Amino acid sequence: MILVAGATGNVGGELLRQLRAEEVPVRALTRNPGRAALPADVDVVEGDFATPESLAKAFSGVDALFLMMSGHEAAVVEEAARAGVRRIVLLSSMAVETRPDSMIGRVHREAERAVEAAGLEWTFLRPGQFASNTRAWASQIAEGDVVRTPFAAVGLPAIHPGDIAAVARTALTQEGHAEAVYPLSGPRSITPVEQVEAIGAAIGRKLRHEEITPEQAGKEMAAYMPAEIVTATLDFLGSATATETQVLPTVEAVTGKPARTFARWARDNADGFR
Ligand SMILES: NC(=O)c1ccc[n+]([C@@H]2O[C@H](COP(=O)([O-])OP(=O)(O)OC[C@H]3O[C@@H](n4cnc5c(N)ncnc54)[C@H](OP(=O)(O)O)[C@@H]3O)[C@@H](O)[C@H]2O)c1
Repeated sequence: MILVAGATGNVGGELLRQLRAEEVPVRALTRNPGRAALPADVDVVEGDFATPESLAKAFSGVDALFLMMSGHEAAVVEEAARAGVRRIVLLSSMAVETRPDSMIGRVHREAERAVEAAGLEWTFLRPGQFASNTRAWASQIAEGDVVRTPFAAVGLPAIHPGDIAAVARTALTQEGHAEAVYPLSGPRSITPVEQVEAIGAAIGRKLRHEEITPEQAGKEMAAYMPAEIVTATLDFLGSATATETQVLPTVEAVTGKPARTFARWARDNADGFR
């Protein structure tokens, strides 16, 4: 049995679908089963990383765990090991390598260390920017045809969360991925201007990008993100490192299938922008 944390989110949701399609026994973890909106026949279990003792039921009978970073890893993995979990695939971040001193780099490395210390089999996934970050534009697209963002010319190889999930699925279900660290990217760099065009094409509208300053963007993002994350995100986007802009071969090397484009993600998720 595989337990998928974050099953209501971008990566965990894709992972749950992929494992079910392969008829792998799987269970979904959420803090709120009533709000989860998962298919009726999914084995959904309530649990919260912040109260690790709430996870005992979720971990019962589980061999392998897909884990999200929460800041509570030490207690969570201790509980998992006690319940007999043998393998953990952790969704970490490329920032561990590219920005080890940043807040995002530090918290993900701390999560990795806690998993390493548990004595179980582990695999770390270190993706860069997610294609799904553009969901934050949905309200602008609902209101009109213009999407305003800073750093119009900065291209990053945004990754389809389904490809992160495919790497996770492989590491959870197959041998040969113990102590592997996988930096992950999409198949080509794409700027915000091109992302706006791709979403427009996916929903059959002509959308336009307009550049704003990082300060203006920061004020808007503060409405739905903690200040520390706003600062870190804008800092990342404004000073992308060579590694962060690099297209990596890992998705195809691990899964045997090429990484999907941003345009594909936009088509797969067009309903979220309609
Ligand atoms: N966005 C990026 O560009 C980026 C880049 C590199 C790495 N990452 C990593 O990816 C993560 C985001 O992944 P995502 O987009 O798939 O997630 P997401 O869509 O934001 O969803 C978050 C998931 O985590 C679950 N969750 C949150 N707090 C929890 C808790 N205390 N206990 C149990 N479950 C909890 C939520 O479940 P319920 O609400 O149902 O409980 C939800 O399913 C980031 O946090 C970061 O670690 C992101």
